[in-house]
Amino acid sequence: MGLLVRIAPDGGPSIVYWGKSLGSLSEKAARVLVLADPFTPSPSGDEPRARVAIVPEHHFGWTGQPGLTGSRDGRAWSPKFECISAFYNGEPTSGYVEAGAGTIVFEGADVEIGLSLRVEVELLDSGLIRARSTVGNLDEEPYSLDGLFVTFPVPVEALELMDFTGRWGRERSPQRAPFSIGTHSRDARGGRPGHDSAFLLHAGTPDFGFGRGDVFAVHVAWSGNQRIYAEKMSWGAAVLGGGELLLPGEIRLGKNEEYASPWVYASYGLGLDGVAQRFHKHQRSRERRVNSNRPVTLNTWEAVYFDHNRETLFSLAEKAALVGVERFVLDDGWFGGRRDAQAGLGDWTVSTEVWPEGLHPLVDQVKALGMEFGLWVEPEMVNPDSDLAREHPEWVMSARTEWPSAARWQQVLDLTIEGAYEHVRGQLFDLLDEYDISYLKWDHNRELLEAGSQLKLGSPAVHGQTLAFYRLLDELRAKYPALEIETCASGGGRVDLGVLEHTDRVWVSDNSDPVDRQHMLRWAGQLVPPEYLGSHIAAARSHTTSRTHDLSFRAGTAIFGHLGVEWDLTQATESELTDLSEWIRFFKAERELLLGGNVVRMDHVQEGQYVYGVINNDASRGIFAIVDTMSVESKPGPRLRLRGLDPNRDYRICPLRIGRAPERFTPPSWFGEVSDTGWHGIVLPGPAIENVGVERPDLRPEQLILLIAEAM
Ligand code: DGJ
Repeated sequence: MGLLVRIAPDGGPSIVYWGKSLGSLSEKAARVLVLADPFTPSPSGDEPRARVAIVPEHHFGWTGQPGLTGSRDGRAWSPKFECISAFYNGEPTSGYVEAGAGTIVFEGADVEIGLSLRVEVELLDSGLIRARSTVGNLDEEPYSLDGLFVTFPVPVEALELMDFTGRWGRERSPQRAPFSIGTHSRDARGGRPGHDSAFLLHAGTPDFGFGRGDVFAVHVAWSGNQRIYAEKMSWGAAVLGGGELLLPGEIRLGKNEEYASPWVYASYGLGLDGVAQRFHKHQRSRERRVNSNRPVTLNTWEAVYFDHNRETLFSLAEKAALVGVERFVLDDGWFGGRRDAQAGLGDWTVSTEVWPEGLHPLVDQVKALGMEFGLWVEPEMVNPDSDLAREHPEWVMSARTEWPSAARWQQVLDLTIEGAYEHVRGQLFDLLDEYDISYLKWDHNRELLEAGSQLKLGSPAVHGQTLAFYRLLDELRAKYPALEIETCASGGGRVDLGVLEHTDRVWVSDNSDPVDRQHMLRWAGQLVPPEYLGSHIAAARSHTTSRTHDLSFRAGTAIFGHLGVEWDLTQATESELTDLSEWIRFFKAERELLLGGNVVRMDHVQEGQYVYGVINNDASRGIFAIVDTMSVESKPGPRLRLRGLDPNRDYRICPLRIGRAPERFTPPSWFGEVSDTGWHGIVLPGPAIENVGVERPDLRPEQLILLIAEAM
């Protein structure tokens, strides 16, 4: 990865180039490589006319979205930051810095308007770049900050944009648009990135795919309101940028107070796979991270919903242990007056109505069966019908005297109020002290609307709420270091690299229908590596879509994430339980590769078809899935070609058989002899597999087949 940063004596720093490595550069050479500044030179000829800084300044001719917006009552709105100091890996620096892995810190000030600016840019070992900025008020008079964004320039050849949208039950739908002049801006104003989150904004060369094209992408690592945008000027400059979206009056800086923007991450890669692999490497290199040894989980939601019948849950736990489940998670319905979704949120004590002896009998049973115990919570929320709301109506977030409209019969608890924060923290600590809980499924089932703080006359408090949420997660993790936390927001409504600094798993979606899951796992994986993606095998008939699928399709889809079960196993047939055990055995035997390998997704498919896989670091083994999610247009269609293997090795490709084979499946002749575990397959050189491939197995709609490729 190459990164070139310009530190000018006047004005903030600019990223002038990022992308493929450039080799080593002289200062003179570096000066001609400036990406985003306009091509029209100034009259003096040696300096571009306008500058695109990381925090772009109007003063230097940038007429696009300013990096910093704000004022002192209408004054002091156009900053010009002079450099006070700049360090690269602790050493003073200036001019053009060709950064290897390390950190550049720029400190500047605009004495005239009384603001300071710190800009940090890091090139991480993963090859990701991240940048953030911090503005400080040096004056007595308060400064109202309206926005602070950071930008990354992209070359004008990046003519196509791709980001995401979605909805509950169908998160992460990619959408493409031409990168034309003007601004493509995506705002999240619901207090979380949302089901329709832009997630990652890519700009790439035309028709970029998984393995083709130069692709640049940015992501805002923040779990509250945010903006991410792509902007192209008529004079040729183009940037990707983003930051927190601040509400009116939300940040007012007193003297010497500072505001720090979230980190904005940038990844360059050959194709979408190149971009994703850097994000995966980053997530895998963090200090507190999960490894691929993820326990197979059973979550009770779709099995029992709010019906917490002791006998049913006990036999569910028995069946779970029988098929090989390693963690049993009790979902919503165990606390306060929570017999349905209309009451109880906020009262985090075990309901004696449903659990007269507390959760001890269930926890003991789960532990005795050799599984870990996990529990569902939704700590940032409160039902008006709860002891908490009755006692402290002033703790409900609200911008007006009237509360915001309810959603799922709930309101948001104002965690910026210390009493509210302590109430929730205290109740969570008590639970974790009393029970052996190794996992919390942390839910967040409504957007923040009109999220003001009543104790501050309704002033916006989304920024403070987001920080309080992070703080609460951190306090829990500090006190219970072995505790894992899953981020869930009615499925995947809060998935970003900010929340993933404080949590260990993502609930991808409430929809476990494998057709939709094929799609959602693929695209959630553009940012998040498979070991973080909660991926469950549900009942044959999907509770969300009412479609029915074979177990081989449901399980073969789910194993490419952190595997779980979301199914009332007390109702499963003996043969379903046998097949399920076989899939779980396979997952356990291969989870190191399935969850720790490098993800590759193939381009040569028809609409509705998928081919993807995971390959280990030395490319000696890979597992691939061949999927038809619908009735495809032409058969046999494109040949099966696999990318990512070593061109200097031969591989045996063996199709696998786990549980029952897909119905009425006729294997092509290259599958060879069949055994109990699969077919004998064929040996081919790596380049032949990639460039010519083999005949694609003829699948019916909503079926898949797995292959294992092993170097000889
Ligand atoms: C929404 C979650 O996404 C579901 O999995 C489940 O936990 C329910 N909330 C419980 O209320």
